[in-house]
Amino acid sequence: MKAKSSGLIIGISIGVVIGAILAIVGLLCFRFHRKRSQIGNSSSRRASTIPIRANGADSCTVLSDSSMGTETSSRASIHNGISFWFTGPRKSHVVAASGILEYSYKDLQKATSNFTSIIGQGAFGPVYKAQMTTGETVAVKVLATDSKQGEKEFHTEVMLLGRLHHRNLVNLVGYCAEKGQHMLIYVYMSKGSLSSHLYNENRELLGWNLRVQIALDVARGLEYLHDGAVPPVIHRDIKSSNILLDESMGARVADFGLSREDMINRNASNIQGTFGYLDPEYISSRAFTKKSDVYSFGVLLFELIAGRNPQQGLMEYVELAALNTEGQVGWEEIADSRLDGNFDERELNDVAALAYKCVNRSPRKRPSMRDNVQVLSHILKTIQNKRHQKRRSSLSSSEVAITIGQSARQNSMNSEHHRAESMDSIPDSVEV
Ligand SMILES: Nc1ncnc2c1ncn2[C@@H]1O[C@H](COP(=O)(O)OP(=O)(O)OP(=O)(O)O)[C@@H](O)[C@H]1O
Ligand SMILES: [Mg+2]
Repeated sequence: MKAKSSGLIIGISIGVVIGAILAIVGLLCFRFHRKRSQIGNSSSRRASTIPIRANGADSCTVLSDSSMGTETSSRASIHNGISFWFTGPRKSHVVAASGILEYSYKDLQKATSNFTSIIGQGAFGPVYKAQMTTGETVAVKVLATDSKQGEKEFHTEVMLLGRLHHRNLVNLVGYCAEKGQHMLIYVYMSKGSLSSHLYNENRELLGWNLRVQIALDVARGLEYLHDGAVPPVIHRDIKSSNILLDESMGARVADFGLSREDMINRNASNIQGTFGYLDPEYISSRAFTKKSDVYSFGVLLFELIAGRNPQQGLMEYVELAALNTEGQVGWEEIADSRLDGNFDERELNDVAALAYKCVNRSPRKRPSMRDNVQVLSHILKTIQNKRHQKRRSSLSSSEVAITIGQSARQNSMNSEHHRAESMDSIPDSVEV
C-alpha cells in the first residue's frame, strides 16, 4: 500500500515536472516568435532610411525614432507618406544609397498650388510650403536652375542629408529631380526661423529660458554633426536664419551640407559662409574646421543674448562690452532690451562667458560642441530646478487661478515649460 502510494506521488511529481518544462518551452517559443515578428516590422518600417553609425557624443548613441521629442507629428506623417509612396500609383521610389524619397514634380506642383505657396527665398532659391495629399506638410526648396554651384549643392545635400538624422536637425525627407528642376524636400518647421523671432516685431518675444533651450538644441544638433556623424560634418553656415523652430519651439539646424562658395563676395572665390559669422582664422587660413562652426555658434549665442544681428555690429558691441567684463561678468549690459530685464544675471553671464570662449581668436582655445552641450545643459538644469522650486512654493502658499484664454505669451511660456520638462525625460537620440 505504502509502495503504491509512493509510486503515485513519484508519478504525479514527474507529471508536474514534465508539464512545467513543456509550459516553459512553450512560453519561450512564443516569445521568440513575437520578437522575430517585431524585428521584421521595425525593419520594414525603417526600410526607407539607412542607419548612420552613431559614435562619440552621448547625445548620439541612443538609436531611436520613437523618442524624437520635438518631431512626433511630422515624423508620423512622414511614415504615413512612406507607405503611400511605396504603394501609390505614381512614379515614386526610394533612393537606395541615401534612403530618402523621390517626390514627383506633378505632386509637388499640386501640393504647392503650382509653386505659389512661397515661404522664403535664400541664396539656394525659393522655399515653398507643400501640403501633400497624404496629409503631410513639407518644405520644398527649389534649386535655382541658373546656378552651377547649386547643382553641386544639390548632390552634396542629397547624399549627406539622406544619412543624417537627429531631432535637432531639419531632416531631409526627399528630393525631386524632374523637368530640369532640382528640389529638396524637408520636414516643415511651422514656427519659422530664429532670426524672424529675434528681429521681427510681429513675432512673439522669445523669453530668456527659451533662448537657453534653443542654444542647447542648436549645440546638440552641431555636436551630432561633429561627433556623431560618420564621417563628421562641418556645417559652415551657422546663423540665426539657418536655425528653424518647430511647432513646440524646438530648434533645429538647417542647411548643413550646403557648400556656399562666393557667399560674401561673388568674386572672392572659395570663402564660404555668411559675413558676421565667419571665423577670422578661417578667413586668413582658408581652412574650415569644426572650431570654425564653434566660432559661428558663439556669435549665435551672443545674438540670442543681445537680440542684435552680426550685420548690425554685434561683435563690435561684444568686444566693447568685453573690455569691462574681461569675458566673465557684467555681460548683462548687452542684454536684449526686449527682454526688459527678465532674465537671471548669473545665467546670462554664464552663457555669455561660454559664447566669448567660442569666439576666441585662437581655435585651440575654443570649446568643442560637446563642451558647449555640457555647459548649456547645466545652465538649463539650474533654470528648471528654480522653476520647479518656484512652482512648488507658489502651489503651497496660495490657490492658483489659471484663466482659460490667457494671452499667447502665456501659452508660449507654458509650452516652453513643457519643452524644458520633456527635455529632462527624453534621452538624446539619433533616429535610424
Ligand atoms: N524646412 C523649412 N520649414 C519651414 N520654413 C523653412 C524651411 N526651410 C526654409 N524655410 C524658410 O524659408 C526661408 C528661406 O530659407 P533659405 O534657407 O532658402 O534661406 P536663408 O536661410 O534665409 O538664407 P541662406 O540661403 O543663406 O541659407 C527662411 O526664411 C526659412 O525660414
Ligand atoms: Mg537657410
